[in-house]
Amino acid sequence: MSDNAAKLSERLAEWLPQEETQAERLREAMNYSFTAGGKRLRPALMEMTYAAFGGAGQEIEPFMAAIEMIHTYSLVHDDLPCMDNDTLRRGRPTTWSVYGEDFGVLAGDALLTYAFETAAKAFALTDDPARTGRALAVLARKAGLYGMCGGQALDVQLTGSAPSADQLDFIYRNKTGALIEAAMLIGAILAGADDEALEDVERAAAAIGYAFQIEDDILDITADEAELGKNVGSDEKNAKTTYVTLYGMAAAKEEVRRLTEEALECIGRFPVPSPELSALVAGLCSRRK
Ligand code: IPE
Ligand code: IPE
Ligand code: MG
Ligand code: MG
Ligand code: MG
Repeated sequence: MSDNAAKLSERLAEWLPQEETQAERLREAMNYSFTAGGKRLRPALMEMTYAAFGGAGQEIEPFMAAIEMIHTYSLVHDDLPCMDNDTLRRGRPTTWSVYGEDFGVLAGDALLTYAFETAAKAFALTDDPARTGRALAVLARKAGLYGMCGGQALDVQLTGSAPSADQLDFIYRNKTGALIEAAMLIGAILAGADDEALEDVERAAAAIGYAFQIEDDILDITADEAELGKNVGSDEKNAKTTYVTLYGMAAAKEEVRRLTEEALECIGRFPVPSPELSALVAGLCSRRK
């Protein structure tokens, strides 16, 4: 894990369920996947976007933890035998392969639910409950049918068949784009961005999300498994059509570059210059994990 991700992880971990329960094995399974590592991209994007719109309060913290809980749950479920059937995640055996399929399902369910319990704690940290309410609604929408779950649904439904360009577009925009959009939109909303600025934020996030998923597909083919920390060759094993199989490796790399430029242009219009946000986004296209 990078130094930045490690520091962020410490802050996020404070929001995990601490209280012991008779369902201790479930709490353990939730914490196992969350604390395994990960780049913490979505909370970092949220916090930097918040700062780029002048945000300086505490209410961002529970939302940062919540988006990472939802993202982590999406990975726990994505790895299940009924989905991508993978055994390695964030450098460790996947949740289901350690705790069993039943606890893989439950750990995901409980992380998703706990994310909203956590985000609701923002009401106690703000003097602008309307913004918090709006941020909660965005979090819910982008995580569900009209967001990540919708994208995952089409992804699994079309596995082994040949999705059209339009269907592939829908899958990428939703399974991966939606949570990145949520992260940046929530940062901007909590900082008080107006509707016109939010459109720009969403455009930037959509481009980042799309590029991120294409790069993920590239890494599934080219990365070193130990370095990546998750199974390589998962897409081929599952007969998935990806941007790479549909358009070829060269076109995929070019599209990552083009989308990154598009995102950087939008970010350049944010009111408070953020070299760290630009650097984070620019670095994603040459990442190795
Ligand atoms: C993996 O996301 C799933 C995709 C949306 C491609 P990340 O690559 O952000 O995974 P972690 O959080 O670093 O483990
Ligand atoms: C999944 O895409 C995106 C999610 C919503 C979890 P992938 O199936 O390609 O993600 P990885 O490669 O397993 O992380
Ligand atoms: Mg998948
Ligand atoms: Mg997968
Ligand atoms: Mg992948």
